[in-house]
Amino acid sequence: MDRNRDNVAVSALYTAATWQWAGLECADFVTPTQSRRLFRQVNAFLRLYRWINPSSYSLPHQLLHRHAAIDHLVQQAGHARVLELAAGFSARGSRFSRDPALRYIELDLPDMVHSKRRQLLASAAGRAVLARQNFELRAADALHIDLSAEFSGTPVSVISEGLMMYFTRAQQMQVWQGIVRLLQASGGVYLFDYIPLPDAPRRSLPGRLLHFLRLHVLRLHGDFTYDERDRYGVRADLLRAGFTQVEIIDTGAVASAWRLPQAAVPTRTLIYVCQVRRPQ
Ligand SMILES: C[S@@+](CC[C@H](N)C(=O)[O-])C[C@H]1O[C@@H](n2cnc3c(N)ncnc32)[C@H](O)[C@@H]1O
Repeated sequence: MDRNRDNVAVSALYTAATWQWAGLECADFVTPTQSRRLFRQVNAFLRLYRWINPSSYSLPHQLLHRHAAIDHLVQQAGHARVLELAAGFSARGSRFSRDPALRYIELDLPDMVHSKRRQLLASAAGRAVLARQNFELRAADALHIDLSAEFSGTPVSVISEGLMMYFTRAQQMQVWQGIVRLLQASGGVYLFDYIPLPDAPRRSLPGRLLHFLRLHVLRLHGDFTYDERDRYGVRADLLRAGFTQVEIIDTGAVASAWRLPQAAVPTRTLIYVCQVRRPQ
């Protein structure tokens, strides 16, 4: 994962700027100012990418629909606890924890949590979020934390948004098994997004040539650790990890019905809704 000089994932700055661009509530005070410039620069590159690969989707809209679809699913689940892994600069915790009956715990790596805390401390609205009894910002590595030891209790919605594409298949399995143990103990649901390579729009011929050049001549490998699985292979791994029910939702298919923002713009992000049948 590319990081800036504060050791913060650059992708977290881009997604934060996306939530702000979309006008999501609380994003104004959670988003670092520097992320706006990055957003403009990346989007300029993406305009060129989409011109070369016309079947690709708009990244800000893909992200917006993924984020809003997860919000929708958390609301639908209605659990009184939310545990968000890799929360980055997401403003979801600030929005949801306005409800004092809901406990919201955000986890991320230590430098990210430090930057988010600093960002929240910089405004009165952010300080009010930090002061809430039902909001917690905690440093933890999703790959190494024992979730069932730390968070067992009442039913919980666990979220990992924008994370699994950076993990190898073995790392994904490790995190999923930990979440299964937590849900076996507490009940709840696990929500995450992941677009396997076979589900991504096919590149055009010039796009494939440029991709080949990037990988094999320039040797520029991206951040994502793709493998050969398609969505059904991912579901098979989730079942192997111990989930007993996995639903796969395509944002494009639900955008209108769920009244996602800018629903008319086509997107295809896959959201996995995973549950565990608990022993009676
Ligand atoms: C693409 S950003 C997504 C941030 C946020 N979920 C969003 O959608 O706006 C990826 C996030 O994963 C976090 N991350 C990466 N590796 C992690 C790990 N091992 N444990 C916890 N967080 C991790 C990064 O710090 C970063 O905040």
